[in-house]
Amino acid sequence: MKRYYIIGCLLTLIQLHTYGQAQTPPAVVAGIPVNYDEQQVGAYSLPDPLTAQDGTKVTDTDAWLHKRRPEIVKMFEALQFGKAPGKPAGMRFEVFDKGTPVFGGAAIRKQVTIYLSKDTLHKMDLLIYLPAKAVKPSPLLLQVSFFPNSLAVEDPGVKPGFMWDKTGHKVPAVKTRPATLPVERFIANGIGIATVYYGDIEPDFKEGIRYGIRGLYLKPGAEQPADDEWGAISAWAWGLSRAMDYLQTDRSVDDRRIAVTGASRLGKTALWTGAHDTRFALVIASISGEGGAALSRRNYGETVKHITDTSRYFYQFAPNYHGYSDKVSSLPMDGHMLISLVAPRPLLLQTGNTDYWSDPKGEFLAAVAAEPVYRLFGKQGPGTDVMPAAGDTSLLHPLGYYMHAGGHAVLPGDYDVFITFIHKYMK
Ligand code: GCU
Repeated sequence: MKRYYIIGCLLTLIQLHTYGQAQTPPAVVAGIPVNYDEQQVGAYSLPDPLTAQDGTKVTDTDAWLHKRRPEIVKMFEALQFGKAPGKPAGMRFEVFDKGTPVFGGAAIRKQVTIYLSKDTLHKMDLLIYLPAKAVKPSPLLLQVSFFPNSLAVEDPGVKPGFMWDKTGHKVPAVKTRPATLPVERFIANGIGIATVYYGDIEPDFKEGIRYGIRGLYLKPGAEQPADDEWGAISAWAWGLSRAMDYLQTDRSVDDRRIAVTGASRLGKTALWTGAHDTRFALVIASISGEGGAALSRRNYGETVKHITDTSRYFYQFAPNYHGYSDKVSSLPMDGHMLISLVAPRPLLLQTGNTDYWSDPKGEFLAAVAAEPVYRLFGKQGPGTDVMPAAGDTSLLHPLGYYMHAGGHAVLPGDYDVFITFIHKYMK
């Protein structure tokens, strides 16, 4: 067991390390060729976010909010991420660290165990830092992390966490490298930071359902959710909504100014969370790629066929999504419509110019195609169909786009862009 765990950790580290750099993209993944040639993308046409299912045009915010938007939410629920249950009846919060001064007194740390069910098996630890000198409730960025809280930040006072190994055991998390979340930088800018470990909600491997929250909700005798029910991304998003349930009860947090963020599969998660849980006031989706902000109809980098392959990440999506692997153009929605669900709330898409697999251009074009929805509310999107250069910060509009120079990662400098974006729209 221990051996698997160590191998798993090493692979993750190698992956995280290489993702941050430019790399030669693989030509074939899961036996499926990958296209990286703009000439081979082919023609595609996108469904119109502003035409309702009955063919009527949406021309005002009322029709958008009460007619078209609910239609699109249902599409993503039933066909891509899968429906999640509501707030669990047995949920309760145990604030076991009620406010410890940390970082030389600059921040107040809190730690909360959120029990996700009546039993004590399904629980997640929420770690919160708030600016100590705040005189009113603070805005806050909630991050969903690949790491248990004790590895996600540099703070020896955080409760030691556990991590999943592939054999279905939670083993003590061992620190092997410095944490990258710059908590003190957010605090110095008057922004609270909270983080949760995605594995506390549902493990990220194909048998994860046996141990995660989705397993608890299976119908008697069933081994998998129904075709339109939650995959792991939807479960992680559900967990973030439970973190929000707690944050709404905490009077030192301004619950009208809570943002959500995550990277990669957790960028897809942050986007889906903000798309359907409108309590989140702002969304930062990093390198979300296929099944996130990137256009699936654009055949570049990863495709629905790659992501839903049974050797890869099919368990992260509703079973219905698999049926579209050879016919993405029959989906009634695409990445631009996922983006549009966040309108009029601010949304930042962060990408990397050499992250070819995640198709940064596909995310940009999705933002361009979602802009008409933001415009209904008088809010700006990219405002151009010319891709910005790497490092260009001129597109931090309410529907914002920022591409760093580099690969599949959130780079240290990206956090400064996040802080600027949050200051612009949430302070
Ligand atoms: C894989 C997967 C992507 C995902 C990424 C990640 O590369 O194909 O869709 O975003 O993992 O989570 O790092």
